[in-house]
Amino acid sequence: MDKFVVYKSKLSGEVKISGSKNAALPIMAATLLTDQDCLIYNVPDLKDVKTMIGILEGLGKKIKLNRGTLSVKSNKIKKTKNFIAPYNLVRTMRASFCCLGPLLAKLKKAKVALPGGCVIGPRPVDLHIKGLRDLGADITIERGYCQAKAKKLKGTHIYLGGAFGSSVLATANVLMAAVLAEGDTVIEHAACEPEIECLVLFLKKIGARIEGEGTPILKIRGVKKLSGCEFKIIPDRIEAGTFIAASLATKSPITIKGANPLHLTSVIETARRIGAEIKIDKDSTIFIKPAKKLKPVNITTFPFPGFPTDLQAQFMACLCLAEGISLIAEKIYPDRFMHVAELNRMGASIQRNGPYAIIEGKEKLYGAEIMASDLRASAALVIAGLASEGNSQILRVYHIDRGYEKIISKFRKLNGKIKREKQ
Ligand code: EPZ
Repeated sequence: MDKFVVYKSKLSGEVKISGSKNAALPIMAATLLTDQDCLIYNVPDLKDVKTMIGILEGLGKKIKLNRGTLSVKSNKIKKTKNFIAPYNLVRTMRASFCCLGPLLAKLKKAKVALPGGCVIGPRPVDLHIKGLRDLGADITIERGYCQAKAKKLKGTHIYLGGAFGSSVLATANVLMAAVLAEGDTVIEHAACEPEIECLVLFLKKIGARIEGEGTPILKIRGVKKLSGCEFKIIPDRIEAGTFIAASLATKSPITIKGANPLHLTSVIETARRIGAEIKIDKDSTIFIKPAKKLKPVNITTFPFPGFPTDLQAQFMACLCLAEGISLIAEKIYPDRFMHVAELNRMGASIQRNGPYAIIEGKEKLYGAEIMASDLRASAALVIAGLASEGNSQILRVYHIDRGYEKIISKFRKLNGKIKREKQ
C-alpha cells in the first residue's frame, strides 16, 4: 500500500485537466448497447476505468486503452453466459451498476451485483430499479445480485426524482435501457449533470433518438439497433475544481487549461466569494489569483448546476484557513464527512452536526499522519497537506488513484512538494 508525503508548498504554473471519470464510466457501459466498434477519446487512465474495462471484457468486449484513446470492439456477446457483472468487480466501483440498463436493453437479461455500502453514506439503488421496472423489466434481488429480465422493454413516462433530488447513475441506467425500448419514453426529474449530457451526446452519436440533454426532462424514441462511433469525453470538472481549491488553500496563483468553465460556474463563483480573482480566456483557460486572506463562506451542495458534493471536502480544506466561520450543508450525501476528523487532526476546527459542518478558520494548519477515506476526501487531505506547516503523511492513497489521473506529477509540475512512498 502506498502513502503520500506532502510538504507545505507554494504552487505556480499551469495544469492540464484530464477527461472526466464520471462521464467516461457510463459511456463505457453504453458501448454494451451496440455490436459495432467505438473509439472514445480523452479517457483518463484510472483504476476505475480499468475496473470497467475488466467488466466489459468479461461481457465479451475487446478493449484497448492507449494514451487516452479507448477502442471497444465487440465479440458477439453470448446471450446465455455473458450477462453477468460479478461482485468482485462491482464492489470496488459503484458505477459498474450502470451496466444493468444496457445489458437488459441488449440481451433482455442481466445479472449485476448490488453495490454494497459506501464510506460516503448509504447509496441506495431504488431509483435505478424503479425506472427499469417502469420500462417493463421484471427485477428480483437475490443473494446480493440484481437479476433483471424482460420479454421486451416498452417506453413510458417515468418520474425519477428521489428524496435527495435527481440521481446521476439512475438517470444513466434508465436512459440506456430506454434507447432500445419499444416506443417513446419520458424521464422526468432526470439528472442535469454535464456527465449525463455527455452520455446523451454519445448515445445520439450511436443512433439513439433523444431530446432534452442537460435538462430535467429527457424524451427518448426507442430505436431497434445502434451503431458505432468516435466520441470525445468532456473534461473532468471535479479535477478542475480540486485544483481551484488547491490554489486557494495554498494562496498560489495557477492556470488551468482544458477545463470547461461552463461546467464550473458555481465553483468559480464560490472561489470568487472566498477571495480569488478569476479570469477566463476565450480559449477557456482559467487563471486563478487568490487573495492573501481567505474569506469564510456558506456552501450548500446541490445537484448540477449547484455546488457539487464531489468538491465539498476540497473546499472545506480551504475554509479551514479562512478568516472567520464558514458553514457547509451537504444536501446530497449527508454523511459525507469522513475528512472532518482528519482535518481536525491537522489543527482545523470543524464541528459536524448532522448534514452540517461549521468551520472556524485558523491561521495555520499543521502537517500530521492522516488517513484517506474516499476519493474526494483524499484530494482534500492533499490540499490541506500542501497548505500546512511541516509535512503530512497521507495513508491509504489507493482511493485517489481511482479518480485522479497522474495527480502526483500534476501537482509536481505546479511545484507542489509531494511524493509517493510505500506505506
Ligand atoms: C454519481 O454517483 C457520481 N458517481 C458520484 O461521484 C457523485 O458524488 C454523485 O453522482 C452525485 O453527484 C459517478 O458518476 C460514477 P446519485 P451516483 O445517484 O449516481 C440518492 C466520485 O467521487 N439516491 O446522483 O451514485 C443518493 O443516495 C463519486 O466521483 C437514491 O436515493 O449518485 C444521493 O443522496 C462519489 N436512490 C442522491 O440520490 C437511488 O436509487 C444522489 O446520488 C440513487 C440515488
